[in-house]
Amino acid sequence: MIRSSLAFFFFATVCASSLWADSALQIDAGHVTAQVSPLLYGLMTEEINHSYEGGLYAELIQNRSFQDDNKNPVHWALVQKGAEASIALDPAQPLNDALKTSLRLDAAGAAPGSRVGIANDGWWGIPVKPDTTYRVSFYAKGAAASGPLTVSIESNDGAKTFASAVVPQITGEWKQYSATLKTASDAAVSALNRFVISTENPGKVWFNLVSLFPPTFKDRPNGNRIDLMQSMVDMKPGFLRCPGGNYLEGDHIADRFPWDKTLGDLATRPGHPGCWGYRSSDGLGLLEFLEWAEDIGSEPVLAVYAGYSLKGDHVNPGPDLQPLVESALDEIEYVIGGPNTKWGARRVADGHPAPFPLTWVEIGNEDFFDASKTYDGRFTQIFDAIRAKYPDLKLISTVMPDHPNHVHSRTPDAVDEHDYWKADAYEKEAPSHFEKWDRNGPKLFVGEWAAFEDIVPWDKASDALPATPSMKAALGDAAWMAAMERNSDVVVMQCYAPMLVRIDPNVPNRRPNADRAWRPDMIGFDSLTVFGCPTYYAFKMFSQNHGDTVIRATLSGLPPGHPALDQSVTKDSKTGAITIKMVNVTNAPQTTAITIDGASGLASTGRAITLSGRPEETNSLTDPTHLVPVESEVSGVASTFSYTFPPYSVTVLQLSATP
Ligand code: AHR
Repeated sequence: MIRSSLAFFFFATVCASSLWADSALQIDAGHVTAQVSPLLYGLMTEEINHSYEGGLYAELIQNRSFQDDNKNPVHWALVQKGAEASIALDPAQPLNDALKTSLRLDAAGAAPGSRVGIANDGWWGIPVKPDTTYRVSFYAKGAAASGPLTVSIESNDGAKTFASAVVPQITGEWKQYSATLKTASDAAVSALNRFVISTENPGKVWFNLVSLFPPTFKDRPNGNRIDLMQSMVDMKPGFLRCPGGNYLEGDHIADRFPWDKTLGDLATRPGHPGCWGYRSSDGLGLLEFLEWAEDIGSEPVLAVYAGYSLKGDHVNPGPDLQPLVESALDEIEYVIGGPNTKWGARRVADGHPAPFPLTWVEIGNEDFFDASKTYDGRFTQIFDAIRAKYPDLKLISTVMPDHPNHVHSRTPDAVDEHDYWKADAYEKEAPSHFEKWDRNGPKLFVGEWAAFEDIVPWDKASDALPATPSMKAALGDAAWMAAMERNSDVVVMQCYAPMLVRIDPNVPNRRPNADRAWRPDMIGFDSLTVFGCPTYYAFKMFSQNHGDTVIRATLSGLPPGHPALDQSVTKDSKTGAITIKMVNVTNAPQTTAITIDGASGLASTGRAITLSGRPEETNSLTDPTHLVPVESEVSGVASTFSYTFPPYSVTVLQLSATP
C-alpha cells in the first residue's frame, strides 16, 4: 500500500523554523478530552449491489435453488450437441418444504459422444484461477437410477474445459452428491466461464441446490471470498453491523431478515426476497454473519427487527408485537446464550460452542421513516424485554432526538445517526457537528455515512460517474472521520455505508454498473478483482493509526466559512505516542505551525502517511491502486515546528514521545 512517489507528495515538507504559516495547531498533550472508543471504527454492509450474493458469499452458482424466477430457470441453460433434450422448472418434484422447485433435465437424446446437460453462468461468469480447488455439491434424482454425471468448469462456448470430475451414479431418490474440481497450474485467469453438469445417458434427472465454491477465507465450507474478507481485516474493524440497513426490515414485514430460517443445513433455508432487486439465498445467514465478524477480528452489533418495514408496513405495539419481541430475545440468545438455553444449544449444534461477544443491540433500522409514529411504543416494548433479560446489553434507537418522529419513553444507550451528504457539506459541518451533541444524553452510533460528489446516492444518473467515489468524496469522508474521532466520547461507533459494490465492465450485453443500486460504495469488485476507493485508504489510515485518548488540539488562523483543514489528535497513554490527523480540502498546500505542549521525550523524527490526489481522481478495477497512501520520514519535529500539508490530502503524522 505504500508508494514511494506521487506528484502531490512533494508538497509535504517540514520547515522546522518556518516564519510563516497558513494556520496554527495548538496541541496540549497533557489534556485528555476523551477516551477513543475501542469500537469506534466498524463496518456496515447489507445485501445491496450484490454485496453478498455474487459478492462476499463465495457461492459461484447463481439461482442455485431455482427460486429467483418462478417461470424460468434464469441463469441456467441447456447444453446439448444436436440431441433431443430440454430443461424446465418442476414444482412437482420439490426437494423438501424449503426448496420447492427443482430443475428437470430431460436428456432423451443423450448418447455416448453426445452429451446433454445444464449450464450455469454464475455471477456473470465463473472465475477460473490456476491451481485452484473448487467444491461442488448438488442434490439430484433420476427417473431411474442412472449416471454417470460429469461436472465441469468450461469456457462459455464449451471449447475449453478447465476442470472436471465424474459422479459415477445417481439414484431414483433425492440424494446429495459432491465432487472436487481442480484447475491446472497453467490455467489462465479468466472470468467468462460456465459450470456444467452433463450426461451421455438418456433419461430424466432433477436437480436442486447446485453449489460450487472456490477456496474461502479460513477455508470455511460455506464461506466468504478471501480477497474481500482480507480487505475488511485490513480495516481493523471493531464491529460489524449484523445485518445492516434496509436488509433487516425488507420491503414488507414478511421480507424481514428471517434470522431463524437462515440457520443450519442449506437445504432447509428457503431464502427470502431482498429489497434491492434480487433474492437472498440466505446461505450467508445469521451464524455466517457472526462468524464473519469473528473472522475479521470484530464483534457483532446485532440489529433486531422492530416491526417496521421499508414500504411502510408496521406492527402495532402491544400483543401484535409480542411475537417479534420473543423473536428478538431468541435471536440474542442464539448469539450469547449458554448451552443450556434453547437457542444457545442450537448455536452449539450448528457448530459454534462459544457465545459471541455482544455489547450493542440495535432496535430496528431508520424507524424515523415510520409514518405511523409507533416507534416509541415498539421501542419501549422491545427495550423493556431485552433490558429485563440482558441488563448488560446496550440498546440503540434509530430515531435521532431532533427528528419530528422522536419520542422516547425509554432512554436508549445510543442513537443511530445516518448522514449521506455532499463532500463539501461534510467539510463545513465537521468542525462543530459532534461538538454540539449533548454530553449528558445517549451516545451516538453513526451507523451510516458516506460523502458523494454531486449526485445523491439513490439517483440513477450516478451511472455517469466512476464506479466508486473519488478523492473529492474521500476528503469529505476524512473530515467527517476526524470529527468523529475527535468526539469519540460521544461517537462510540461509526461505519461507512454501504461498503461493497459489484461491477462487471466486461460482460457482453450488460451495463457495467447494472449491479449498483446505490453509490457511493467504498469497495468495488468483480469476479476476480477487489479494489478500494480513496475513502477506503483514508478509513484505514484512521482505523490503523490512533491512540486510546483524544487530546486537546485547536486549529486557528483559518478563514471563516468553509474551513480548509480539519484535525484530530490522539495520544497513546501507554507509549506517549502522538498521532495527528489533518485533512486539507483545498487546492493549495497548507503550512501549519504546530505547537505541542505537555509532551515529554518528543522524538525529532516521525512518520507521515499521506493520501493525496486531484478531486476527480479515483481507483478502479483496471487501476486499483491509482491513489494510495505514501509513507515518509518527518524530521525537525519539536515542541514547535511547521508542516506543510499537500493540496487535497489526508495526512497522519506519527510522533514518538514518552508517557
Ligand atoms: O446504505 C444504503 C441504505 O441507506 C440503507 O439500506 C438504509 O438504512 C439507508 O437508507
